[in-house]
Formats: sequence, structure tokens, C-alpha cells
Amino acid sequence: MTTALITGATAGLGAAFARRLARDGHDLVLVARDEERLREQAAAMHDRYGVNASVTVADLSTEEGISTVEERLTDQARPVDLLVNNAGFANRDTFLKVPVEDELTMLKVHCEAVLRLTSAAAGSMRDRGRGGVVNVASLAAFVPRGTYGASKAWVVQFTQGVAKDLAGSGVRLMALCPGFVRTEFHKRAGMDAGSVPGWMWLDADKVAGAAVKDLARGRTLSIPGVRYKALMGAANLLPRSVLARASSSTGRRYAPR
Ligand SMILES: NC(=O)c1ccc[n+]([C@@H]2O[C@H](COP(=O)([O-])OP(=O)(O)OC[C@H]3O[C@@H](n4cnc5c(N)ncnc54)[C@H](OP(=O)(O)O)[C@@H]3O)[C@@H](O)[C@H]2O)c1
Repeated sequence: MTTALITGATAGLGAAFARRLARDGHDLVLVARDEERLREQAAAMHDRYGVNASVTVADLSTEEGISTVEERLTDQARPVDLLVNNAGFANRDTFLKVPVEDELTMLKVHCEAVLRLTSAAAGSMRDRGRGGVVNVASLAAFVPRGTYGASKAWVVQFTQGVAKDLAGSGVRLMALCPGFVRTEFHKRAGMDAGSVPGWMWLDADKVAGAAVKDLARGRTLSIPGVRYKALMGAANLLPRSVLARASSSTGRRYAPR
């Protein structure tokens, strides 16, 4: 039996990864801040799929939270075979309207936590000669979109770079870059999701399923959905200024406070 550790497993994409990986027979370690939701999710995964599911309560914007998960990932007695660095969020509003501390918190969760957890997991995996890491980035990594897009661009570059460094070690790394996915993400950020055209929305379970398949195929970058694959192809042909105008505004209308 293999074990997968998923950060941000209480909602959205992380919960979808939990369902998919439990269905495939992986035991689970579920990480997030909300202990009650974590316990409910673990019980549901055990009851529905018969896997062992444990919880680790950790706030990945804190030193203590990151260290707790690092310790779990380096516990030789309970090896983790697959790490999904999924926890993330968007800040409400555009640059200068967001307090700089909140932007730094984002960099801690999206970059520092991803770097440290990848390092902790991949080291043990390389010693065992097998394992996988999925780092959830975003299509925003490829277009101008404030601190959020910049942090996700770091995730893509970091993941593909480490994948090259570890080639041949038995450890696979992949950056997952979805477009808009129906989750709690937009509501939490106070975004008016109604401003996003219907065809742009992806289903979280389908995104998790596509990611699992792409990792198995040895991809280092996964862009789920035919429409988004085509969109990214077309985006490469557009002038950067046109792309910047469209990408920095789509889905960035905010609901009244
Ligand atoms: N939804 C989209 O359109 C979309 C598109 C592209 C990429 N993504 C990326 O997908 C990932 C998952 O987002 P989602 O859409 O599934 O959002 P979501 O539904 O809001 O879920 C976010 C998850 O992250 C956890 N989390 C947030 N801050 C955390 C922290 N400081 N420490 C630990 N856990 C934390 C939350 O749990 P707790 O609140 O219990 O901690 C929750 O389980 C993110 O990295 C996001 O950037 C989303």
C-alpha cells in the first residue's frame, strides 16, 4: 500500500485529489488548518474507499506548520510515496490594494512551503528510488497576473528544474496548471465568479484525474482540458500586451465587501 500526502485537502482540488487517490487505493495523509473538516474528510475517505486516512493540522503560512509537515515527510517509519503540494489562495484585490504582509503570506504558502516540502519528500523518495511530487501551480503562471501569477510561475520553473535534476532517480515531479476550477477559491478571495464565462470552468475531479494520468505518463507539466491546451497554444502567438490586458482582468471583479 502506498501513501499520498495532500496539502489543502479539505476543499476544492485537494479534496478531489483525496477522492481520486483513495479510489486508486492510496492511504492518505490530509493536511490543512481546519481540524474538524480534515477529520470529516478522513472518515469519509476511509468509509467510502477502505483506505487509512490520517490528518495533520498545519498552517503552511507559519514556520511551525511547515516544520510539522516536513517532519511527517521525513519520517522513515511511515514513508510518503506521493506528495501533492496543493494548498493555496488568492488575495482579494490588485497590487497596492493588498497589504504587503498578505502578499508575503502568499509567497510563504505558494513558494517557501512548496520548496521545503518538496525537498523533504524528494530526499526520502530518492533514497528509496521511487516517488512523485505534484505541485499545483496555475495557468496564471504564464500570464501577467500580480503576485499570484508570479508565485505560480515560480512553482512551474522550480518543479520543472527539480524534475530535470532528479531525472533517472525514480522520483517524478510535475507542475499542474489548471485554468478556472469550481472550488471555494474564488469565494474565499471575494471574487465575483459570475464574471468568468461558463466555458472556462473546469471540474475539480476531472482536473485531479488528468493530473494523476499525466504524472503516470512522466509529464513535468500538466494543463488539463482541451480548451485550455488550445488557449495556451494561441496565447503564445498573441502580443504580450494583449495577453496582459486579458489575463490581469479576467475573473478579477470583486464582490462588494
Ligand atoms: N480554483 C481555481 O480556479 C484554481 C485555478 C488554478 C490553480 N488553483 C490552485 O489550486 C490550489 C487549490 O485551490 P482550490 O481552488 O482547491 O481552493 P479552495 O477550494 O479554496 O481550497 C484551498 C485549500 O487550501 C487550504 N489552505 C489554504 N491556506 C492554507 C494554509 N495557510 N495552510 C494550510 N492549508 C491551507 C484550505 O484549507 P483550510 O482553510 O482548512 O486550511 C483548502 O483545503 C491552490 O494552490 C490554487 O492556487 C486553483
